[in-house]
Amino acid sequence: MKLMLVANWKNHPEDREEAKILISGLAKKSLLFKKLNTVIAPPAVYLDLVGQKVKSLGVLASQDIFEHEGTYTGAVGPNMQKDFGVKMAIIGHSERRKLGESNLVVANKVKTALKMGILPLLCVGEEAHDTDGAYFESLREQIKESLQGIKKKDLLGKLVVAYEPVWAIGKSAKEAMRPEDLAQMVIFIKKVLTELFDRNLADKAVILYGGSVDQSNIIDLKDTGVSGFLVGRASLNVKSFTELAQALTK
Ligand code: PGA
Repeated sequence: MKLMLVANWKNHPEDREEAKILISGLAKKSLLFKKLNTVIAPPAVYLDLVGQKVKSLGVLASQDIFEHEGTYTGAVGPNMQKDFGVKMAIIGHSERRKLGESNLVVANKVKTALKMGILPLLCVGEEAHDTDGAYFESLREQIKESLQGIKKKDLLGKLVVAYEPVWAIGKSAKEAMRPEDLAQMVIFIKKVLTELFDRNLADKAVILYGGSVDQSNIIDLKDTGVSGFLVGRASLNVKSFTELAQALTK
């Protein structure tokens, strides 16, 4: 199976012009990006612009999904996202959880995505990598609660989990997760999914890693059982994102 490479642009770049330059630059390398499952998640206001160019190299994702039905000032509904060509939604990123998004809200967003035919990319990850291993339990709890009330049949073959330990996001590559630790966490996440659902679902789930991934650590992190990466900073520049794709296709 092709590896997945997700660009999480967060609230960047600063303006439309730069967004256009970035996506056009990536589109020029479409042959390379097509060797992977490349996903671009721009801010909502650039979905239209990016959506027009992304098809040649991969698919369009949103960075969030709105879970309520009805009338809500300021909301962007999933139907609108779909209309722009959104195929996948990042859900429960730690930067949104920090703003107060609970596991229950995250689970409702996963349900909304599944109902709307948008692939949920669920972000999970512990706050701190303590030495007594308490993070295993907190991660298990988070995964369980972020998938509460969701039926196995709805999730089978449709779950992407991005393991993003909060302590490793936005740091230097040296401070990112060590490959041997990541290999252990991938096994652990699959074990939790097996406990919650079954082995078949766990085997079919796509597990990504995110947190200070760049060209200097991606090759070592690749051989850990992950199916790809969710990348922040290194996705904001044509050269650095291209280098990641090259490293993954070697
Ligand atoms: P980073 O961000 O690659 O800049 O650490 C990853 C993320 O938050 O998804």
